Amino acid sequence: MSVEQWLDAIKSGPPPGAASDWTIDQNFEGYSEAEHRLWTKLYERQAELLPGRACDAFMHGLEALDLHGAGIPDFARVNEKLMALTGWQIVAVPGLVPDAVFFTHLASRRFPAGNFIRRPEELDYLEEPDVFHDVFGHVPMLTDPVFADYIQAYGKGGLRALKLGHLQNLARLYWYTVEFGLLATLQGLRIYGAGIVSSYAESIFALESDSPNRLGFDLERVMRTPYRIDDFQEVYFVIPSLEFLLDQTTSTDFAPLYARLEGLSDIPIEAIESNDKVFSRGTQDYACAGGRRHSA
Ligand code: PHE
Ligand code: FE
Repeated sequence: MSVEQWLDAIKSGPPPGAASDWTIDQNFEGYSEAEHRLWTKLYERQAELLPGRACDAFMHGLEALDLHGAGIPDFARVNEKLMALTGWQIVAVPGLVPDAVFFTHLASRRFPAGNFIRRPEELDYLEEPDVFHDVFGHVPMLTDPVFADYIQAYGKGGLRALKLGHLQNLARLYWYTVEFGLLATLQGLRIYGAGIVSSYAESIFALESDSPNRLGFDLERVMRTPYRIDDFQEVYFVIPSLEFLLDQTTSTDFAPLYARLEGLSDIPIEAIESNDKVFSRGTQDYACAGGRRHSA
């Protein structure tokens, strides 16, 4: 779906065949053999790469949900396990959904996941999140009780941010935690962000490249930092624990924070501020060389 089609779709409500909350049937029987094989290929690549790179919560979740390499998972089967663990569920949607719809699902412990899989030529680059990103990337973390509560709180916070007109600040929090977050452990940095963990190349880049900055997570700082959606990140934010993330965000009333942010400028993506806790000061060589535009 193009951006124009997507905007039209939002204005006109859910697409034909979808319920009023934009959910659809996964249509598990409808996947082709080739689509199942594509999942397995993606799964096997990541399963080999992630031990020692992804955090324990992710690896345990992957194990607990049995998202093995036997093809695209049946949401109904995954949901039995997920529901028993943390009360979360996956619901199928046709693609990106409007913000309010997305937040309402999260606030009710339902994670919207695209039911379609990327085309084989998009193995490493996606414009719209597919079932591999949404399920392999996001769902293992939902088996962690702390992270499960964080995403639900985020959904409630999203509805509030919409009303307060500060969605952009809150979206940055999602981006730099749920999608591209790193976790400090005694064994070194580990990935918990879904956007990293579902990408072969970024799973390596985020931890091993000299190019990006890796900075300590600070709520206000993150909310002032724009992000790029078209290439590897130029900065990753590191949390000390999942509990810290949950405590910080749920014990802070964001309304005064949003008000304060109105008087503060954005921080350039590649900047390092004097207050930042620096895990690594990046060279930004990758971004300066033109990133994906030049390496493709
Ligand atoms: N504390 C936030 C608020 O006052 C809600 C929130 C919690 C947002 C956790 C994101 C994550 O809006
Ligand atoms: Fe995502």
